[in-house]
Amino acid sequence: MSEHDCEQEILRLKKELNAVILAHYYQEGEVQDLADFVGDSLALAQEAARTSAEVIVFCGVHFMAETAKILNPGRLVLLPDLAAGCSLADRCPPEAFRAFKERHPGAFVVTYVNSSAAVKAMSDVICTSSNAVKIVNRVPKEQQIIFAPDQHLGRYVSKQTGRELVLWPGSCIVHEIFSEQKLVQLLVEHPDAEVVAHPECEERVLAHAHFVGSTKAILEHAVKSEKKKFIVVTESGILHQMQRRAPYKTFIPAPPDSGCACNECPHMKLNTMEKLCLCMRDRRPALELPAGLREAALAPLKRMLEWS
Ligand code: 13P
Ligand code: SF4
Repeated sequence: MSEHDCEQEILRLKKELNAVILAHYYQEGEVQDLADFVGDSLALAQEAARTSAEVIVFCGVHFMAETAKILNPGRLVLLPDLAAGCSLADRCPPEAFRAFKERHPGAFVVTYVNSSAAVKAMSDVICTSSNAVKIVNRVPKEQQIIFAPDQHLGRYVSKQTGRELVLWPGSCIVHEIFSEQKLVQLLVEHPDAEVVAHPECEERVLAHAHFVGSTKAILEHAVKSEKKKFIVVTESGILHQMQRRAPYKTFIPAPPDSGCACNECPHMKLNTMEKLCLCMRDRRPALELPAGLREAALAPLKRMLEWS
């Protein structure tokens, strides 16, 4: 099928299914352009909570689609490629997390949305990169807090809130490999540039950032800022929206510690236009969750939406 035919078929199926297409900023540009709504994890969860569409087609990774399913048990939630996981969720197995929790009895558990439903179900509240500081600030001061599974986001939140956090030692395979040395080199070459970074990056990389925030926050900051040039330290898919919304500005992707010029999430990039079209045609792969697990994971998610 040609690219144009694929696009037309997706639009036709969208009407037929009464579906909404939600996409994360790390998706391929063509997928973002077709979506009804593009956002960061929080905005996508909020949109999934408010949609009236019968079918939710989630162009993102598994934990994002799973969150949409937890919020919408009666709706069909499709993910173009079910193998689109997340290193943070994978590196926090539920049984190991249960044992970790048991070593800190009574601690309040704040869990990053990049986690499995089973880990969410063991948590008191969920957070995303855009509300983590706010959520931690809502926890009573005397309360010990476990923060999982991203240690780098946890360290950033700890600095911002002045709260000591018990950190699960997880990290993202994309954000942990940005090269500090290459970033400094880029800054030398572009002294007029502003560095914008995602809080999943290592502390030594964040130390060079002029602005730290979620994908949505980085995007809005870059669009509004008076600066004309930005070094972008997150997955390179975000550059698509940056270039669309501020075509007169320059966006330079920060390179990882490998031979590549930019940094892509292998999980996010598993979704393609063709797989999107096929999943809408076949109405699968669909997210399924046992009712008990769904209800247990819903409570901390609902608390996040209330506290956001
Ligand atoms: P955002 O919520 O900032 O979009 O982050 C999602 C993510 O997976 C970052 O790697
Ligand atoms: Fe997960 Fe990292 Fe990919 Fe985000 S960029 S989905 S945290 S692996």
